[in-house]
Amino acid sequence: MKPESGKTESIWMGTFNVPVFSSLTKDTECDVCIVGAGISGLSSAYLLLKSGKKVIIVDDGSIAGGESSRTTAHITNVIDDRYYAIEKMHGEETARIATESQTAGINLIEKIITENNIECDFQRLNGYLIFKPEERSGVLEMEYDACKRAGVEVNIASAPPYTALGDYPCLEFPNQAEFHMLKYLSGLANAITAMGGRIYTQTHIQKITDGPEAIAETKNKLKITAKDIIIATNSPVSVYIAIHTKQAAYRTYVIGVRVPKDSIPHALYWDNENPYHYIRLYKQQKNDILIVGGEDHKTGQDDNPEERFRNLVKWTSERFPMAEHVEYKWSGQVLEPFDGLSFIGKDPENPKHIYIVTGDSGMGITHASYAAILLSDMINGRENAWAEVYDPKRITLKAAPEFIKEGFNTAIQYIDIITPPEYADENEIPPGTGAVMSFGKDKTAVYKDAGGIIHRFSALCPHLKCVVEWNKTENTWDCPCHGSRFEATGKVINGPALADLKKLN
Ligand SMILES: Cc1cc2nc3c(=O)[nH]c(=O)nc-3n(C[C@H](O)[C@H](O)[C@H](O)COP(=O)(O)OP(=O)(O)OC[C@H]3O[C@@H](n4cnc5c(N)ncnc54)[C@H](O)[C@@H]3O)c2cc1C
Ligand code: FES
Repeated sequence: MKPESGKTESIWMGTFNVPVFSSLTKDTECDVCIVGAGISGLSSAYLLLKSGKKVIIVDDGSIAGGESSRTTAHITNVIDDRYYAIEKMHGEETARIATESQTAGINLIEKIITENNIECDFQRLNGYLIFKPEERSGVLEMEYDACKRAGVEVNIASAPPYTALGDYPCLEFPNQAEFHMLKYLSGLANAITAMGGRIYTQTHIQKITDGPEAIAETKNKLKITAKDIIIATNSPVSVYIAIHTKQAAYRTYVIGVRVPKDSIPHALYWDNENPYHYIRLYKQQKNDILIVGGEDHKTGQDDNPEERFRNLVKWTSERFPMAEHVEYKWSGQVLEPFDGLSFIGKDPENPKHIYIVTGDSGMGITHASYAAILLSDMINGRENAWAEVYDPKRITLKAAPEFIKEGFNTAIQYIDIITPPEYADENEIPPGTGAVMSFGKDKTAVYKDAGGIIHRFSALCPHLKCVVEWNKTENTWDCPCHGSRFEATGKVINGPALADLKKLN
């Protein structure tokens, strides 16, 4: 599959092609319109169709072309912000509900795979959380006790099966899982169309209207009229402010390294370093690929993403001497809610018939799956005890310090308006790259394509006017305030911005 939200290629894109769908050509109607054909949109569509709703899914790229194609696909019910932190912030009962829903998410994935015979390399396996040597007793026990109270299946293991990651006790989580993301989502899309669901791709939604009838309007002014709309665009494009001040966008980096077959015990591994690492294997016929991710930083706030890949290669070669060569390297984006729980339910700014699903963190796969259960219940008028926990309106007072810290971080990004440019003259910009230039008071995003032709745009993000940054790894313009991203030639990739960068002469 061709990369869509940046130029790097993930292992999933390199090994599988998703089915192709056509774009929307005329006005239409349905019960539920879902904007976004990633794992969140497709999972919700599946359960809504099962409940008898007429469903349309619309995406401005291919199916799964967003962050879903960039995942590492650990399928886990273990919250990556630590259970003791979730308990401290939200209380024991909420931590218990979080586990219940995460576990239901994994089970739903397995059920969908079985019901539809989807061949996607799904496998149940153990996960291991490895603490730093200095925190291995106190923090490990604190997390173990909190996991037990929350109902997570957990053991203290004497060491992870791959001891070079830490030859001392760690937490073991049975019954986690992994799969090939694009094989799974292709099977899911086929199951959706087999049930009568309609999928339209290459169709950008530019306007969403709430009311007695909800309307999703495309860039070409075609209308999809629905009783309800789910915004499954990863960062919700129907919300202007309410959610984007409660979560932050982070870039995260992954390498796929060839290793000899069966040289590393097959499991999921995570560490507690800062920045942390997440590790799994992808089994191939002749060899395995060791997938190592980490090196996260806030979107649009790092000048040297290539350094992140170098750090991952160094970290990997120090711990995995059998590592041969890097076959894949890619990056992607996750949204980190300040209080550690995702946002699923009515859009706070459009509360009649618009629903959102966001705040994926590093567990967006299980989050998308329990979101499907919750949203299907809500739209079908069924009670669901998880609704309050994930309510997008919630204010978590104990998350106030994080809220203030992140708010300050966003505010200082506006200083970029007066930051001097990297190049004195457009002629200095190398072909195939971009840079933000100053022309008088105005900041201009200048992209020089491979043929040397200059493309100029306003560097102000259409969302709330932060200055975008050039992402040297993905060849995109990334907004450091709330994570909107744009192709080199200005087309919006993901929200909260709905419009492209403004083209200048
Ligand atoms: C490197 C990386 C590693 C990760 N590892 C894990 C992991 O191990 N385990 C885990 O559980 N999670 C992981 N995640 C997170 C998980 O992969 C994501 O949370 C999940 O795939 C997001 O799915 P989604 O459907 O919400 O969003 P997406 O897949 O991004 O789908 C959103 C879709 O909306 C479309 N769209 C956006 N705006 C519009 C518009 N205006 N009109 C029409 N369409 C629009 C996009 O084209 C896109 O296809 C990882 C993420 C990354 C980046
Ligand atoms: S994403 Fe909010 S200002 Fe750019």
